Amino acid sequence: MAKKIAVLNGPNLNLLGTREPDTYGTMSLSEIETLTTKQAESHGLSVDFRQSNVEGELVNWLQDAGKNCSGIILNAAAYTHTSIALHDAIAAIDTPVIEVHLSNVFAREEYRHHSFISDVAVGVICGFGANGYVLAVDAIASMLRDN
Ligand code: DQA
Repeated sequence: MAKKIAVLNGPNLNLLGTREPDTYGTMSLSEIETLTTKQAESHGLSVDFRQSNVEGELVNWLQDAGKNCSGIILNAAAYTHTSIALHDAIAAIDTPVIEVHLSNVFAREEYRHHSFISDVAVGVICGFGANGYVLAVDAIASMLRDN
């Protein structure tokens, strides 16, 4: 059976395509899902792609992915900058998490410069738009190959 990657997306990412396109691009979340799934399949991996506006739901999904998935790609959106609960959920699981942001958060408002996720993530990819998800899939695939 193919190893599975969870791709978890936080608040307001359901609006991608029309939400602040100058910052986040014009691709919809379902187009990003297609892109990510194709890339994962090229590595023989399957994808469980989800989005929620609810912090606790993301916590539940991280806990589930900790049991059922080989890697996690997480764009926690605004919860990145606020959520100790997401930090703790990642710290509690062994599955590697890659933090992704479409925009370069360091080139934006100061309140986006701090992440509660980065210190418990394996790595961070930001500023490459939707391609960041593809890069994250490649990173997980190579980690799984090396392990
Ligand atoms: C984001 C960056 C966050 O600061 C912001 O709150 C988002 C999206 C990104 O993908 O660039 O909602 O995570």
